[in-house]
Amino acid sequence: MTQPDSSIANSRRLNEILRSITRLRPLPTSTNRILRALDEPQTTAGLVAELIALDQALTAYTLRVANSAALGYTSSCASIKDAVMRLGFRQVRSLVVSTVASGPLSSRLSGYRLGDKGLWNHSISVASAAHWLAGTLRFPDPEKAYVAGLLHDIGKLVLDQYVFADYNDMVNLMHRHNASMWEVEKHLFGVDHAEVGGMITSHWQFPEELVDSIRYHHTPGKSQLNQKISAIVNLANALVPPDNPNTQNMELEGRVIHPHTLQILNIPEHLLESLQSRLIDAMFVYEARMPSM
Ligand SMILES: [Fe+2]
Ligand SMILES: [Fe+2]
Repeated sequence: MTQPDSSIANSRRLNEILRSITRLRPLPTSTNRILRALDEPQTTAGLVAELIALDQALTAYTLRVANSAALGYTSSCASIKDAVMRLGFRQVRSLVVSTVASGPLSSRLSGYRLGDKGLWNHSISVASAAHWLAGTLRFPDPEKAYVAGLLHDIGKLVLDQYVFADYNDMVNLMHRHNASMWEVEKHLFGVDHAEVGGMITSHWQFPEELVDSIRYHHTPGKSQLNQKISAIVNLANALVPPDNPNTQNMELEGRVIHPHTLQILNIPEHLLESLQSRLIDAMFVYEARMPSM
């Protein structure tokens, strides 16, 4: 691919994209307070419970997950503090992000040809696959991989309208240059959905490591803070079974394993096929276990 088109129209569009990110509504203060508290070593379950109680949807979901028979819990817990202690801070972090992200990620993305909940279903699949891969590869905090997987394509929410307008040009460019969707986005808009996702989560003041892993999920070798999480998400994105197995959607989702990914994760190429079939088996178990939101 050649350098990004530097026409006035394109730079105007890039400015428009950047402006729309800064105009996004901030996250509820309670969400940021919980996420920050979960990262503080002195935080107690009582404090986390108090912060969760400020949010009705999060309270309901936390109690539902903590009492889920499908997750193997036999005795019920009625208080949020009990639920927090049962789940642990890492899983609470995933619940908080899932609750905040489920609304926006469930919308229909006409540009990317994703129907209602299309992006949400893909995000949940990649999150579960990233969690499984992280555990299998003995990554120390699989919940971080889950959260990064859940939010990895959030930048598509902002780029969708531009993809919609330029869809035919984009597909032509992809075929002509054998390029991925994100490379064509970068070429046409000056920014790709992974970078936009990094900007959105940075605007929401999410932890820097999470922002970094979203920004580099298609180019994990460029990650500054934790190449392994970006590489796990890149691999999960390529290996999950497609929700809609038509070629057009596969191309749009950019299901390509970056050459750096296997290197970073130290996975020999000949093991990929068996890793993918184990992952697909594991996904059935995940889907059966996670209570829907
Ligand atoms: Fe992506
Ligand atoms: Fe994706």
